[in-house]
This record gives sequence, C-alpha cells and structure tokens, in this order.
Amino acid sequence: MDSLDPSTERDLATQALARHDRPRTVLVGGLGLGFTTRAVLADPRVEHVDVVELSAPLVRWARAGLVAELAGLEEERCRLHVADVADVLTGGHEPPGPWDLVLLDVDNGPGFLVHAENADLYRVPGLARARDALEPGGVLVVWSSHVAPDLHAHLQDVAAPGETVAEVPIRVRRDGRSFTYALYVLHRGAAA
Ligand SMILES: C[S@@+](CC[C@H](N)C(=O)[O-])C[C@H]1O[C@@H](n2cnc3c(N)ncnc32)[C@H](O)[C@@H]1O
Repeated sequence: MDSLDPSTERDLATQALARHDRPRTVLVGGLGLGFTTRAVLADPRVEHVDVVELSAPLVRWARAGLVAELAGLEEERCRLHVADVADVLTGGHEPPGPWDLVLLDVDNGPGFLVHAENADLYRVPGLARARDALEPGGVLVVWSSHVAPDLHAHLQDVAAPGETVAEVPIRVRRDGRSFTYALYVLHRGAAA
C-alpha cells in the first residue's frame, strides 16, 4: 500500500462504475489510502458507499484527519466500518447489503497475500458470497497486483449461467520496471 501510483486503485472503481447503468450503492473492501473510495465518490450517481476496513487504527486516523489522503473521506455519502469484509459478506457483521458494486482490494492478490486469512476471498466460497452480495445487475471487481488465472477460473465457477466474467490486465511502470496488474470482473445477471 503506497501513494506512488494509485492509478490501478482508481481503475478498480472506474472499471466497475463504467459497467453499471445506475450504481447507487457500493461496498469497498479495504480502505487503504482511500483512492478507490474517492474515485467512487467522484461519480454523482453513487448515493451511498460502505467502506469496510480491518485496521481500526487506520479508520481512527482517517476520522481524526491524521492521514492527509483520508481526511474528510467519511461524509454524508460515505461510511467507514471496522470489520473483516469476509464477515460482512457472510452477513455476520454490519453493514448489510446488497450493493450495486462490490469492490475488493484487501491484499496483493491471491498469489502474494499479506494476510493468509484473506485466501478464501479469492476462492470459490468467498467469491460466491461476494457475488451473492450484489443487487441484480450488480458488478463485482477484485484487484490483483498480478495476473491470477486461478482467481479468473474461480470467478467463472461462481458465475450463474448468462453472467459474464472478464480479466482486465493493466500494465504499470514502477521504478523503470514493467508489471502487469489485473482486475477480475463479474457482472451479475439482471434477474434476481
Ligand atoms: C492494498 S490496501 C487497499 C488500497 C485501496 N484500494 C486504496 O485505494 O488505497 C488493502 C487494505 O485492506 C485492508 N484489509 C486487509 N484485509 C482485510 C479484510 N479481510 N477486510 C477488510 N479490510 C482488509 C488493509 O488493512 C488495507 O487497508
């Protein structure tokens, strides 16, 4: 997590917003430095954003304005919640869904986890819960710092017939080196 090049964190939001006609409600899993959340809030169609963050100190610092990037982020349309997003997706912790968009960026991606406990969020059970937390017609996007064929396959496994799954590779240059990040997108069918 750093602020050197937040373009892919913003892409996480803009790619989801571009795939939905009327995204009114959004769940963001992983506050970080708030780049994804600010990109969501920049869209006037969005009426409410729930941001779920594991780290209580980070949320406290955001509320106290101690981190410049996070100052003023919590406002009328945006609520911060301290919780494991996996618990929120099971319905075991507030806030309640469903949402039009579910955006997950809680770790580096399935191949390079900081928190081993996050592994299930990138596998069928966790992805199925994220898909089920979508309103009909909703969009789930998962951020990864690397191309992750297993994650792509697991998303295809949880998609219902007629729902679409896409891999969106994003080339990034950092310190003179080239990397390929990726977004994994599931578009839920319009029927409930
Ligand atoms: C890579 S950062 C997110 C970056 C964010 N997209 C941005 O725009 O700055 C990952 C964040 O997810 C949080 N996190 C890690 N595991 C989590 C979980 N299971 N539930 C909720 N938040 C989690 C971390 O504390 C960290 O703040």
